[in-house]
Amino acid sequence: DRPLKVALLGCGVVGSQVARLMTTHADDLAARIGAPVELAGVAVRRPAKARGGVAPHLVTSDAAGLVGRGDIDVVVELIGGIEPARGLINAAFDAGASVVTANKALLAQDGPALHAAAEEHGADLYFEAAVAGAIPLLRPLRESLAGDKVNRVLGIVNGTTNFILDRMESSGAGYGEALEEATALGYAEADPTADVEGFDAAAKAAILAGIAFHTRVRLDDVHREGITEVTAADIASARKMGCTVKLLAICERAEDGRSVTARVHPAMIPLGHPLASVREAYNAVFVEADAAGQLMFYGPGAGGAPTASAVLGDLVAACRNKLGGGRGPGESAYAALPVSPMGEV
Ligand code: HSE
Repeated sequence: DRPLKVALLGCGVVGSQVARLMTTHADDLAARIGAPVELAGVAVRRPAKARGGVAPHLVTSDAAGLVGRGDIDVVVELIGGIEPARGLINAAFDAGASVVTANKALLAQDGPALHAAAEEHGADLYFEAAVAGAIPLLRPLRESLAGDKVNRVLGIVNGTTNFILDRMESSGAGYGEALEEATALGYAEADPTADVEGFDAAAKAAILAGIAFHTRVRLDDVHREGITEVTAADIASARKMGCTVKLLAICERAEDGRSVTARVHPAMIPLGHPLASVREAYNAVFVEADAAGQLMFYGPGAGGAPTASAVLGDLVAACRNKLGGGRGPGESAYAALPVSPMGEV
């Protein structure tokens, strides 16, 4: 069988792990897909920098040239942010490639346009890694629960802020020291403002709400408050009340079922609730559905290898579709429920 060719855009904390796993798991990937998968090129901003185990001849600074060269089956976009990622993803669809991305900011801003572009070109757009790292979450919400009705999603979806709040509570570490540690462990965004101000969690909330409620929710629709105002005293007084403080993403369907809300803010959680036991940079998403009842998805939500695991799962799906003529999930917006301002629910 002809090898499927993969272009990797970005080779940082996650990208370097994707490249590594593509090599170390090459035989298993080929067996699961039904053809070998070849890393055809890796586009980075500064090619001179060492890139883990990536062969130097594969590294280029010309991302557009790599995407547009005509023989790429799947583009894995791990640059993050809006541009140049958006332009490169659209160029990938134009060139007939499918796309796997972890880009929550772009999906929360432009999801519908990206889905439409994929659809127009008969390509796939997969993004399991965009929310809660390694945790299988978007597929179960979209597929396993497709016959149920999700009413509420409560998530700890930012590892960096959970790590900071956990360190402040358990070891009395200062905010700055805990943030530095989270950054050193590869959890934080390139600019940790996105983490601590809640933008990262808000983007994930928008994606989760869209999939859970089959509607369109954008980053601007999500009420957002980060953790920068949370003090050691707040955490201590929560503790006295038998609670812990977590940054929560809360997505709810209104009781009358006619609108949805999504918001991110620090919240007091009773110590007996399963979300209270989520420590360090772990993520957890608590889902309430009509028939299923309460479900919790738990695991590593950030970091190179865990996020790469989700990327590889999507890569397998996209490659299988390329070979077998199948199609990815597409957009799950049918209900067109309005997103109501916070407080109406
Ligand atoms: N900065 C993010 C986090 C990475 O801390 O959760 C995963 O999206």
